Amino acid sequence: MSEENIRIRGQRPLNGEVRISSSKNAAVALIPATVLASDTVTLYDVPHISDIIALRELLAELNVEVKRDGDSLIINPSEIKNTVLESDAVSRLRASYYFMGALLGRYKTVKMKMPGGCDLGPRPINLHLKGFRALGAEIDYDEGFYTLHADELIGTDIYLDFASVGATINIMMAAVFAKGRTVIENAAKEPEIIDLSTMLNKMGAQIRGAGTSAITIDGVESLGGCKHEIIPDRIEAGTYIIIAAACAEKMRIKNVIPLHLEALLMKLEEMGVKMEIGDDYIDVCKSDDLKAVDVKTLPYPGLATDLQQPLTTLMTKAVGISRVKETIYPERFKHCEQLNRMGADIEIGTGSSVINGPTPLYGCKVKATDLRCGAALVTAALIAKGETVISDAYHIFRGYDSIKEKLRALGADID
Ligand code: EPU
Repeated sequence: MSEENIRIRGQRPLNGEVRISSSKNAAVALIPATVLASDTVTLYDVPHISDIIALRELLAELNVEVKRDGDSLIINPSEIKNTVLESDAVSRLRASYYFMGALLGRYKTVKMKMPGGCDLGPRPINLHLKGFRALGAEIDYDEGFYTLHADELIGTDIYLDFASVGATINIMMAAVFAKGRTVIENAAKEPEIIDLSTMLNKMGAQIRGAGTSAITIDGVESLGGCKHEIIPDRIEAGTYIIIAAACAEKMRIKNVIPLHLEALLMKLEEMGVKMEIGDDYIDVCKSDDLKAVDVKTLPYPGLATDLQQPLTTLMTKAVGISRVKETIYPERFKHCEQLNRMGADIEIGTGSSVINGPTPLYGCKVKATDLRCGAALVTAALIAKGETVISDAYHIFRGYDSIKEKLRALGADID
């Protein structure tokens, strides 16, 4: 793991335009899904982030040919071999578990190590396993390895006790070749799930209802290749909008789908952030006199838990008491301890935090404990007086494409 640090000298006004890259959380599902194809899949505009590098390593282990051509990835799975996934790359990201659904779907058997990912408190995969079992798989867990096997996969109705993004995606992939019809009830509705369904359907799958709480998958015999452009990253977009609200004079955030950001935009409006929303861009102006607000994280279309952390930084600038209720990951508050080191006044409760604002922030040494904690700290460092050094910055590079270059182009003092 790299020891890389990010150093930011704060309080530089940001101006100009930033282009949002394609969605990390869509890309990390689309790439494993390519192993379901019998022909080449070309993905356009794939973000330059370390999670993609880890997935490429896993594809290489499976003998899948992958080429980077500028921003595109050309993936040819025609010589694929279903080997045990046990390298360090499995533990570097959560999304490695999408190979479980994809390889089970294609080969009816898969063996892999327990996935890794950000430490956000407990992250069970019981709902994924419930779905695989319902389709006919037997599951063994031994010394950190899952082994899944089915003589055949048969479509069925699967009810998710929680609308889990990961379980919905994994079950969709496992079910594409299952006999008959699978219906996922209480499915997650995130835009990344629609993107996966769009790509799989281009490859020849029969999936309907993605984006609603009932997804129907009619099993097919095989899938071909396709060309697919990934949706913009709504979390990266939200992060730059928050950064703009915190310290820009005027900033345009380009390549966004404003509909994917509705909950955030409405909250920011309530805080008093001045914005103009275009078809595929959002202009944000310097906003003084921000008001405190209460937020609750929810599955899409509610406010994304991934934006809760950078939004907390903005709340330190708002006048009054802001309250955050985290319903997805009740322990996702490590960023608050780091923000307090910088001068914030945040009380951490059970599944909640209370931000007393406004408080000036001061540069110091802080640690990115996870990806979005890193985003919260970058935002804080841009606001803060003096120099901030963020350690364990590798978390940030897992999900934010060219963040140093993008911020430097906007006028930030970052290296
Ligand atoms: N859950 C279960 N059992 C399961 C699966 C999930 O109890 O089998 C619970 C989780 O513990 C959590 C909740 O359900 O409390 C939501 O988990 P979900 O499965 O929806 O999340 P995920 O698929 O593990 C994805 C994103 C996360 C994002 C969440 C919520 C990817 C690779 N990850 O995780 O993104 O926070 O959905 O929107 O798509 C990030 O990008 O920083 C990140 C953590």
